[in-house]
Amino acid sequence: MSSPSEAELIHMFKGIPFTIRSSPELLKSLDTFDAREDDLLLVSYPKSGTHWLAGVITKLYNTQVTLTSPIEFGDISKLEELNKLSSKRIIPTHLDYNMLPPNFKNKKCKMIYISRNPKDTAVSMYHYYRDNPNLPTIDTWTTFFDLFLKGDVVCGSWFDHFLSWEEHANDKNILFLFYEDMKKDLFKIVKEMSVFLSLNISDNDIQDICKKSSFSEMKSDIEKENSDPSHTVCSLTSNRKLIFRKGAVGDWKNHFTPKQNRRFEEIFNEKMKLSEM
Ligand code: A3P
Repeated sequence: MSSPSEAELIHMFKGIPFTIRSSPELLKSLDTFDAREDDLLLVSYPKSGTHWLAGVITKLYNTQVTLTSPIEFGDISKLEELNKLSSKRIIPTHLDYNMLPPNFKNKKCKMIYISRNPKDTAVSMYHYYRDNPNLPTIDTWTTFFDLFLKGDVVCGSWFDHFLSWEEHANDKNILFLFYEDMKKDLFKIVKEMSVFLSLNISDNDIQDICKKSSFSEMKSDIEKENSDPSHTVCSLTSNRKLIFRKGAVGDWKNHFTPKQNRRFEEIFNEKMKLSEM
């Protein structure tokens, strides 16, 4: 059987490509979502370290919290299912700030945004596309590189996503994190998270959480996690091996040609000229 075409896998909503796993009806109904004050949103552009963040957060709570699949994944029944869950809900999302259900903003729900060097994000996403039958077939890195720069990939342009959230980086209810900072000093960032979430966690416990959240520990949990339906952060695959690939900073250097790097930098500088980061 031939693989499904791009048109069969992707549809556009408000100018952004979504997979058919996010039904148009659900996307249209997001504005009506009834958020709760104690909801916690984990926000990211795909491949920025969402699973890592979710792994740390669920360990920080260490009590009955429900980690859901991303709010934009599913069909029209999704919001009703979320309504039925008891608190506290930890809800991932790849939505850009403008598409976020307004109730999360009105109720000043806490949100953690994780960002990653877009060059590494692009490489991570390329491998994810290549090995995932739920995404369009990509023949070469060169093809993907162009699509990424044009924002012609799921969740749209990295630049638009980042800029929409960066505008709110100083909002009191939003914590802005970087993948690279987590790689450099996980203890410091986990401590920052626990203060932001008003959790009283001892340094010993934070050390323990860091140990259990290392790339190698999380990767070796793969087998267990595969059989645990509550690990639902990525709804585009149940194959955890696609998620825990390399976990490194700077893998882009193994993929970008010097010419691609120059082009990326030009576009980055142009698009990010208003960015403070
Ligand atoms: P690579 O493909 O570069 O390896 P997401 O969870 O948003 O889909 O992001 C996946 C990326 O985060 C993958 O990057 C994955 O390896 C990396 N990752 C997952 N867990 C990690 C961890 N504990 N430490 C470092 N990187 C991690």
